[in-house]
Amino acid sequence: MNASDLEAIAKAMVASGKGILAIDESHATCKKRFDSIAVEATPENRRAYRELLMTVPGGNEFLSGVILYDETMRQTTAQGVPFPDVLKQQGILPGIKVDTGAMKLAGSPNEKITEGLDGLRERLVEYKQLGACFAKWRAVITIGEGIPSARCIEANARALARYAALCQENGLVPIVEPEVLMEGDHDIARCFDVTQETLHQVFHALHSQHVALEGVILKASMVIPGGKCAAQASVQEVAAATVRCLRRSVPAAVPGVVFLSGGQSEEIATAHLNAMNQMGPHAWPLSFSYGRALQAPVLRVWRGMKENVRSAQSALYHREKCNSAACFGRYTPQMENYTA
Ligand code: 13P
Repeated sequence: MNASDLEAIAKAMVASGKGILAIDESHATCKKRFDSIAVEATPENRRAYRELLMTVPGGNEFLSGVILYDETMRQTTAQGVPFPDVLKQQGILPGIKVDTGAMKLAGSPNEKITEGLDGLRERLVEYKQLGACFAKWRAVITIGEGIPSARCIEANARALARYAALCQENGLVPIVEPEVLMEGDHDIARCFDVTQETLHQVFHALHSQHVALEGVILKASMVIPGGKCAAQASVQEVAAATVRCLRRSVPAAVPGVVFLSGGQSEEIATAHLNAMNQMGPHAWPLSFSYGRALQAPVLRVWRGMKENVRSAQSALYHREKCNSAACFGRYTPQMENYTA
């Protein structure tokens, strides 16, 4: 695969009005989500849930890709169709989370470094054989007293760049995800500064590792006050700060930026994306790659029961439709008045 093939995949990942569904929770995170609806976290329950998410009738109107976890990549529908094939049959690109998680940064226990570079080349070769077209690696930056440290940002940026270079070498488009966490009492200005510094370091590291920006998708966190900050920000403020930060930090060669939801409610995450797109045109398409903000309503409806699958799928279709409208700046709160 050459650079233009990677560029074509990256462009398809941010096709007009389409976004990416993140369902790549580790077993531990999936258990947390299942605990909230009293469903046991067994391989079969995870399989059934992920089948529900990937077989929404009409879901391909709004989705360009789905990010899977290792286990899901190897599982099948109840009828025995491998999940990567189920997606490809709908014209949706399968992706794979390849980091092995965020661990304590040595010497700084309140900060994290994402691991997973050892043996990554071999794993990428296998994932490509299993049908993956793109990959994801999430770095976590925590804001707090005296943190993030420069070395935490630098170490994570370097790991993201090494991962991205390996992905491109093996014909997979890397989603580069440096998440600045929403946890904490910091204000929006502090989030802006940390996000700006993080993005600068990430793009510097990508350049150092000779990563072709045309074959990368940035998955960004929004510039938003910490959850415990007394001064919360309006939708317009978050959108304006995020767009300003991206304009300062993200080269125009990047084919697209998709956002994580990071703990925002589903409707707020959609409203933020919508407001940003109303502020365009931008140098890159701005779209969604939400996990919780797409799945939360699905879990609430499904509750592990077969008879709820269809209404849970309608709930997901609805959220995808709202976020697709937000990609054009055409979302309105009235769109939320729907019944499954
Ligand atoms: P959230 O939208 O729940 O933050 O998850 C997106 C994701 O993929 C985080 O890595």
